[in-house]
Amino acid sequence: MIRVLFVCLGNICRSPMAEAVFTNLIDQAGLLDRISADSAGTGQWHLGERPHNGTRRILERYGIPFDHRARLLEGEDVNRFDYVIAMDLHNLQDIQALRGGRARIGLLMDYAPQLAEAEVPDPYYDGRFDLVYDLVTEACAGLLAQIRKEHVP
Ligand code: 4NP
Repeated sequence: MIRVLFVCLGNICRSPMAEAVFTNLIDQAGLLDRISADSAGTGQWHLGERPHNGTRRILERYGIPFDHRARLLEGEDVNRFDYVIAMDLHNLQDIQALRGGRARIGLLMDYAPQLAEAEVPDPYYDGRFDLVYDLVTEACAGLLAQIRKEHVP
Protein backbone atom coordinates (compact mmCIF):
# COMPACT_ATOMS: atom_id res chain seq x y z
CA MET A 1 0.00 0.00 0.00
CA ILE A 2 1.28 3.45 -0.93
CA ARG A 3 0.35 5.91 1.81
CA VAL A 4 -0.05 9.64 1.19
CA LEU A 5 -0.40 12.29 3.93
CA PHE A 6 -1.56 15.82 3.12
CA VAL A 7 -0.51 18.52 5.58
CA CYS A 8 -1.73 22.07 6.21
CA LEU A 9 -1.91 24.36 9.25
CA GLY A 10 -5.30 23.72 10.82
CA ASN A 11 -6.21 20.40 9.15
CA ILE A 12 -9.76 21.68 8.64
CA CYS A 13 -9.64 23.49 5.25
CA ARG A 14 -6.99 22.55 2.68
CA SER A 15 -5.52 19.18 3.65
CA PRO A 16 -8.85 17.43 4.40
CA MET A 17 -10.07 18.72 1.03
CA ALA A 18 -6.97 17.26 -0.65
CA GLU A 19 -7.44 13.97 1.25
CA ALA A 20 -11.06 13.69 0.06
CA VAL A 21 -10.37 14.75 -3.55
CA PHE A 22 -7.38 12.41 -3.81
CA THR A 23 -9.24 9.47 -2.25
CA ASN A 24 -12.08 10.06 -4.72
CA LEU A 25 -9.59 9.95 -7.61
CA ILE A 26 -8.08 6.73 -6.23
CA ASP A 27 -11.58 5.26 -6.02
CA GLN A 28 -12.41 6.28 -9.60
CA ALA A 29 -9.15 4.68 -10.76
CA GLY A 30 -10.03 1.42 -8.95
CA LEU A 31 -6.89 1.67 -6.81
CA LEU A 32 -8.27 1.83 -3.26
CA ASP A 33 -6.48 -1.45 -2.51
CA ARG A 34 -3.12 0.05 -3.59
CA ILE A 35 -3.09 3.69 -2.48
CA SER A 36 -4.50 5.41 0.63
CA ALA A 37 -4.62 8.99 1.92
CA ASP A 38 -4.87 10.81 5.25
CA SER A 39 -4.31 14.40 6.40
CA ALA A 40 -2.86 16.23 9.40
CA GLY A 41 -2.15 19.75 10.64
CA THR A 42 0.81 21.49 12.22
CA GLY A 43 -1.38 23.65 14.52
CA GLN A 44 -3.29 22.62 17.63
CA TRP A 45 -6.39 24.84 17.43
CA HIS A 46 -8.91 22.50 15.78
CA LEU A 47 -7.92 19.01 16.89
CA GLY A 48 -10.84 16.57 16.65
CA GLU A 49 -12.98 18.91 14.54
CA ARG A 50 -14.69 18.05 11.28
CA PRO A 51 -13.62 19.94 8.13
CA HIS A 52 -14.50 23.65 7.91
CA ASN A 53 -17.92 24.58 6.49
CA GLY A 54 -16.30 25.95 3.34
CA THR A 55 -14.52 22.66 2.65
CA ARG A 56 -17.63 20.61 3.47
CA ARG A 57 -19.79 22.73 1.18
CA ILE A 58 -17.41 22.33 -1.79
CA LEU A 59 -17.04 18.58 -1.30
CA GLU A 60 -20.79 18.14 -1.00
CA ARG A 61 -21.34 20.23 -4.14
CA TYR A 62 -19.11 17.86 -6.14
CA GLY A 63 -20.44 14.72 -4.47
CA ILE A 64 -17.08 13.83 -2.96
CA PRO A 65 -17.27 11.79 0.26
CA PHE A 66 -15.20 12.84 3.28
CA ASP A 67 -14.63 11.51 6.76
CA HIS A 68 -11.91 13.18 8.77
CA ARG A 69 -11.28 14.68 12.19
CA ALA A 70 -8.43 17.14 12.55
CA ARG A 71 -5.28 15.67 13.99
CA LEU A 72 -1.76 16.89 14.66
CA LEU A 73 1.21 16.00 12.46
CA GLU A 74 3.48 13.60 14.42
CA GLY A 75 7.14 12.71 14.08
CA GLU A 76 6.28 9.15 13.13
CA ASP A 77 4.26 10.38 10.14
CA VAL A 78 7.43 10.83 8.07
CA ASN A 79 8.07 7.10 8.57
CA ARG A 80 4.53 5.74 8.35
CA PHE A 81 3.76 7.50 5.07
CA ASP A 82 5.42 7.19 1.66
CA TYR A 83 4.54 10.74 0.62
CA VAL A 84 4.02 13.70 2.95
CA ILE A 85 2.63 16.57 0.91
CA ALA A 86 2.54 20.18 2.13
CA MET A 87 0.03 22.82 1.07
CA ASP A 88 2.40 25.76 1.58
CA LEU A 89 6.00 26.58 2.36
CA HIS A 90 5.39 26.96 6.10
CA ASN A 91 3.92 23.47 6.26
CA LEU A 92 6.87 22.20 4.23
CA GLN A 93 9.36 23.65 6.72
CA ASP A 94 7.47 22.12 9.64
CA ILE A 95 7.49 18.70 7.97
CA GLN A 96 11.18 18.96 7.10
CA ALA A 97 11.94 19.70 10.76
CA LEU A 98 10.80 16.13 11.55
CA ARG A 99 14.09 14.55 10.65
CA GLY A 100 14.94 10.97 9.90
CA GLY A 101 11.87 9.87 7.99
CA ARG A 102 11.73 7.78 4.85
CA ALA A 103 8.78 9.64 3.27
CA ARG A 104 9.17 11.70 0.16
CA ILE A 105 8.33 15.24 1.24
CA GLY A 106 7.07 17.85 -1.21
CA LEU A 107 4.68 20.66 -2.08
CA LEU A 108 1.31 19.71 -3.55
CA MET A 109 1.46 22.35 -6.28
CA ASP A 110 4.71 20.87 -7.59
CA TYR A 111 2.46 18.17 -9.07
CA ALA A 112 0.66 20.74 -11.24
CA PRO A 113 3.58 22.66 -12.80
CA GLN A 114 1.28 23.90 -15.58
CA LEU A 115 -0.52 26.13 -13.02
CA ALA A 116 2.73 27.83 -11.92
CA GLU A 117 1.51 28.19 -8.31
CA ALA A 118 3.93 27.40 -5.51
CA GLU A 119 1.35 27.09 -2.74
CA VAL A 120 -2.29 26.31 -2.02
CA PRO A 121 -3.39 29.59 -0.37
CA ASP A 122 -5.02 29.42 3.05
CA PRO A 123 -8.80 30.01 2.64
CA TYR A 124 -9.45 30.29 6.39
CA TYR A 125 -9.49 34.11 6.37
CA ASP A 126 -10.40 34.97 2.76
CA GLY A 127 -12.93 32.20 2.03
CA ARG A 128 -11.54 31.29 -1.41
CA PHE A 129 -12.51 27.64 -1.14
CA ASP A 130 -13.36 27.44 -4.88
CA LEU A 131 -9.82 28.43 -5.76
CA VAL A 132 -8.45 25.87 -3.30
CA TYR A 133 -10.66 23.18 -4.84
CA ASP A 134 -9.44 23.96 -8.37
CA LEU A 135 -5.77 23.91 -7.35
CA VAL A 136 -6.08 20.81 -5.20
CA THR A 137 -8.00 18.90 -7.87
CA GLU A 138 -5.48 19.60 -10.62
CA ALA A 139 -2.48 18.82 -8.40
CA CYS A 140 -4.02 15.65 -6.93
CA ALA A 141 -4.49 14.35 -10.47
CA GLY A 142 -0.81 15.04 -11.14
CA LEU A 143 0.23 13.37 -7.88
CA LEU A 144 -1.82 10.27 -8.67
CA ALA A 145 -0.33 10.10 -12.18
CA GLN A 146 3.17 10.28 -10.67
CA ILE A 147 2.46 7.58 -8.07
CA ARG A 148 0.95 5.30 -10.72
CA LYS A 149 4.01 5.78 -12.92
CA GLU A 150 6.35 4.84 -10.08
CA HIS A 151 4.43 2.20 -8.15
CA VAL A 152 1.48 0.75 -10.01
CA PRO A 153 2.37 -1.52 -12.94
P1 4NP B 1 -6.05 25.07 6.92
O1 4NP B 1 -6.69 26.50 7.29
O2 4NP B 1 -4.58 25.13 7.34
O3 4NP B 1 -6.19 24.98 5.44
O4 4NP B 1 -6.84 24.03 7.67
C1 4NP B 1 -6.62 27.06 8.57
C2 4NP B 1 -7.48 26.67 9.55
C3 4NP B 1 -7.44 27.27 10.80
C4 4NP B 1 -6.50 28.26 11.06
C5 4NP B 1 -5.62 28.64 10.07
C6 4NP B 1 -5.67 28.04 8.82
N1 4NP B 1 -6.46 28.90 12.33
O5 4NP B 1 -5.66 29.82 12.51
O6 4NP B 1 -7.24 28.51 13.24
